[in-house]
Amino acid sequence: MTGTRALVVVLVAAAAIATTVWTYAARGALHEDLPPAFASRTNPRLHDPAAAAAGAAIFQSNCASCHGDRADGHGIAAVGLTPPPANFRGTDVLARHSDPYLFYRITEGKPGTAMPSFRGALAENERWAVISYLRSLTPDLAHR
Ligand code: HEC
Repeated sequence: MTGTRALVVVLVAAAAIATTVWTYAARGALHEDLPPAFASRTNPRLHDPAAAAAGAAIFQSNCASCHGDRADGHGIAAVGLTPPPANFRGTDVLARHSDPYLFYRITEGKPGTAMPSFRGALAENERWAVISYLRSLTPDLAHR
């Protein structure tokens, strides 16, 4: 009897551990540590047809020096940067990130890299427009 109860306890514990591991693995696909203030943000310009074009112009003025005119990471100021600026074309960078993550990075910058904060330089609706532009590069990927 005691043996059976011990076995049940072990099985229940194993199931609980497996569930926990599975939950983390499933979330890992898009796991991003965002401050709570950013985690719930959504793009207010999602259905604004002018946003991607506006964002393209903002990108050329503010981001292309590093991320490249084509957003492929090969800007003139990218030379020697470690890590290099993100390449948004032909890579999984955009697929790996949610809109709130992109907004967080553009707003706060990325510590340990040359990615600056645009909190002061760009208004919130301009930061969202750039995200609409980046999403337009991979139209097969929905906003996430
Ligand atoms: C001074 C150069 C520079 C400028 C200007 C710049 N970036 Fe970056 N950016 C970087 C670097 C370097 C990284 C780090 C890449 C990495 O983490 O592998 C980065 C990272 C990012 C990331 C995060 C990618 C990731 O996987 O975490 C986003 C999003 C981004 N940049 C968007 C922009 C946008 C939009 C602009 C313009 C508003 C901009 N950047 C301007 C250099 C720059």
